[in-house]
Amino acid sequence: MNAKESSEKTGTTMEKLTALCKRRGFIFQSSDIYGGINGFWDYGPYGAELKRNIKDTWWQDIVHNRDDMVGLDASIIMHPKIWEASGHTKQFSDPMADCLLTKKRFRADQIEPQSGPVYRYTGAMDASGKASNSVYAVLHEDMTKARKTAKAYYETLGLKDPTLQGEQVEQVTDSTGFNPENGGLLTPPRAFNLMFKTFVGPVEDDSNVAYLRPETAQAIFTQFLNVQVVSRKRVPFGIAQIGKAFRNEINPRNFTFRSREFEQMEIEFFIKPDEVVRAQYPEVIADKPETWGWSEWHAYWVEQRLAWYESIGLPAAKLQKYVATQKELAHYARAGVDVNFDFPFGAQELEGIAARGDYDLSQHQQHSGKSFEYFDDEAKARYIPHVIEPSAGVDRIALALLCHAYTEEEITGENGKKETRVVMKFAPRIAPVKVAVFPLLRNKPELVAKAQAIYQELRREFVTEWDDSGNVGKRYRRQDEIGTPFCITVDFDTLGEKGPELKDTVTIRDRDTMKQERVASSELRAWLKSRIG
Ligand code: GAP
Repeated sequence: MNAKESSEKTGTTMEKLTALCKRRGFIFQSSDIYGGINGFWDYGPYGAELKRNIKDTWWQDIVHNRDDMVGLDASIIMHPKIWEASGHTKQFSDPMADCLLTKKRFRADQIEPQSGPVYRYTGAMDASGKASNSVYAVLHEDMTKARKTAKAYYETLGLKDPTLQGEQVEQVTDSTGFNPENGGLLTPPRAFNLMFKTFVGPVEDDSNVAYLRPETAQAIFTQFLNVQVVSRKRVPFGIAQIGKAFRNEINPRNFTFRSREFEQMEIEFFIKPDEVVRAQYPEVIADKPETWGWSEWHAYWVEQRLAWYESIGLPAAKLQKYVATQKELAHYARAGVDVNFDFPFGAQELEGIAARGDYDLSQHQQHSGKSFEYFDDEAKARYIPHVIEPSAGVDRIALALLCHAYTEEEITGENGKKETRVVMKFAPRIAPVKVAVFPLLRNKPELVAKAQAIYQELRREFVTEWDDSGNVGKRYRRQDEIGTPFCITVDFDTLGEKGPELKDTVTIRDRDTMKQERVASSELRAWLKSRIG
């Protein structure tokens, strides 16, 4: 499609995005043929490439490009004592409340407060004399609807066409005790542990209980000394890990944003306790990391992470720093900053950067009986290192990139008709497919042979697609929808049919500007490399 003009429409809706993700193979619902399973997702061919690019870019920038970082790839199932030490067995829970009528489960702390009249009942009775004295209530503006809901509730208790008893009405303000969908009463909130339980070995008893890890971080803490010894890194240094995490979320929602199985990219960056740094360096010098205490390291990581998000194509204008209040912080945490992204459903967390003191290593020292003390031969001090933890979610980053990339443009095609072009404007570095190669016509062997030679050469270096079906306009449209930044067409000029000047040149069409330029096929690799990085 050669557009003469284009105008961009704003406003990605999640419906449009989820439809595109399915249509083009970014993300499918897990177990689709059996109706899906809530909170689980499968990444299709382009989603898998996108995720790999996110993880590879992070690993490259965080591990390979730094002298003070090494990697780890730990097991998902670990000794259950790890979760006792970390506090997850006791405290890793969300408050849940159930609708007494539909049994739907809600996260109590995420229910929007509601105000209005509440119809309360002391019980109900039916014509056969069967009675229930279970109290019930409905928050609804419409009395008839409130009564209908209450009757439906008593019917679930076995009454037929019940007569409601003891009706009283009162106004409530900002209540979170009612189902926002039908107004029915919810159970009081109860703590619900989010860890998935399983059994190790053939015997399913309490002594064999294990958990799917709810975060990758704990393995880093427990392996701190092993990694430090073999890598010969000196504090300050970090250990980075990418891997699956599992949380039995009460309400998975917003597409992949809150899933039950997801991937994390976590860093535990170990630093000296402030008193050790101050004994060595009495004053903080801004550009000398060796003089920094925890707050300088924390601020440094917040800035590093924000810059990384910009480097993968998320603009600063859509990123925000949310500083946790003292009340929101865990008792051991000194500070916490979330990197939030403006999703179509609101600004939500991509990553949390926490200053955790020596809490985690101290807990594991106490529970395992193994010393986590590190001898610092420069500072001549023995201490348990403190930690700064930048913890990001791969799936949330993928979703942010998809939301930001999704663009609809109104264009005028060559036939003069207005049409909508859907284009995924991924940064080339992160795009699932970097380049597509087309022969102008599939039934001209000379064109196909030239195009194949280019395709075979480029695919060794870049993720490259071959497309010879339909006309070139349709091929562009397909590549636009998966966000391929560059499309190469081999045409009759390439064969030298219009003269020797254009022989062995191809057209490269830019996804965003839709402009085409001619480039010598011998220069293609360098041309692409300089634009993709
Ligand atoms: N070790 C610290 C930790 O796990 P967290 O804030 O619970 O902290 C870190 O999780 C990141 O993991 C979040 O910022 C988010 O990107 C991702 N994450 C957490 N729960 C998730 C879920 N249910 N679905 C998708 N991503 C999730």
